[in-house]
Amino acid sequence: MVSAQRPRIGVVRETVPGERRVALVPKVITQLIGKGLDIVVESGAGEAALLPDSAFEAAGAVIGNPWDCDVVVKVAEPSSKEIAKLAAGTRLIGFLNPRSQENQIGELKAKGVEAYAMEAIPRISRAQVMDALSSQNNVAGYKAVLVAADQLTRFFPMLTTAAGTVKPATVMVLGVGVSGLQALATARRLGARTIGYDVRPEVAEQVKSVGAKWLDLGIEAAGEGGYARELTDEEKALQQERLAAAIGDADAVITTALVPGRRAPILVTADAASRMKPGSVIVDLAGETGGNCELTEPGETVVKNSVTICSPLNLPATMPEHSSELYAKNIQALLELMLNDEGAIAPDFEDEILAGACVTRDKEA
Ligand code: NAI
Repeated sequence: MVSAQRPRIGVVRETVPGERRVALVPKVITQLIGKGLDIVVESGAGEAALLPDSAFEAAGAVIGNPWDCDVVVKVAEPSSKEIAKLAAGTRLIGFLNPRSQENQIGELKAKGVEAYAMEAIPRISRAQVMDALSSQNNVAGYKAVLVAADQLTRFFPMLTTAAGTVKPATVMVLGVGVSGLQALATARRLGARTIGYDVRPEVAEQVKSVGAKWLDLGIEAAGEGGYARELTDEEKALQQERLAAAIGDADAVITTALVPGRRAPILVTADAASRMKPGSVIVDLAGETGGNCELTEPGETVVKNSVTICSPLNLPATMPEHSSELYAKNIQALLELMLNDEGAIAPDFEDEILAGACVTRDKEA
């Protein structure tokens, strides 16, 4: 009997400026090799995550050309130049921005690449281990709080000192999905008073479970698949007005509100921001889709009326060690799901996770 060839998985070096993550880390590579896969890593792929080529070699990987492997794994969406390196029939896994109008999926399809978008993995219990939106948004929520604390002219915790007592800061989180919930938990650990707000009513319990107060503005907008729907124009106006009244008491506001496939909703108007005390901070995590604050300049930190508005982009890339470790576990789980009983890469599209994640197949409506 002829033994089947071991599938080859290629790990590329990311090229987007500021992207410090790598799709697979040595520990996970050793486990994948144990499952019958061969791993080829592009030289320098882990450098920005402080993982030298030698660490990948010690884990059993080969340093070489990853682009001609059976499956290419990466973090950021590929550029046209990168797509040109892929042969027809190659499988590609990464963040592919499937809901954007300006993604590269058409180009991948034209090239005959079978592409899997991490964002398109269904949010079902069985897929939690491969949910990269969650693993990376957890990092973003945590880091957003550190950015807020760094910019704030005041303490987060209550302090009783010989020189007097300092009141704790109030941190309000608008949009409490994965990143918002982590932001609430982190701000609380730093000693702040915390308040959470969302349009999905089921979030109230989760907000309370991390020791925060729930802000109820009387607007509910649960949409499909556990996501929020876009508000009507009347609801938007009402929400902005009610939030403006609530925001004035917060020392830091962290916004994370997203609606799939849409511009991020404006929750904090310029007027609402101007009602905050001088020295207060807004950290807007929705900058990539336009921002939740009217004054946000994506990627920048600006000061308006003595309020600092930060819109950091790609926060997970600023913590490349843990972000890469978590992402690598997500990729590992997806790769293992693609293996058949003989150890070959043979995705079964009867599986809703693989069918949902693959964005270059024609799907029935
Ligand atoms: P997201 O990143 O799409 O949005 C962030 C938050 O913004 C959401 O909570 C959303 O309700 C909120 N939002 C949108 N428009 C808003 C508005 N106008 N005002 C206030 N808030 C607004 O959300 P994320 O973090 O991706 O979570 C989406 C859903 O997926 C949640 O239901 C979450 O529980 C679920 N989920 C399920 C998992 C699973 O079972 N495998 C794993 C992770 C998340």
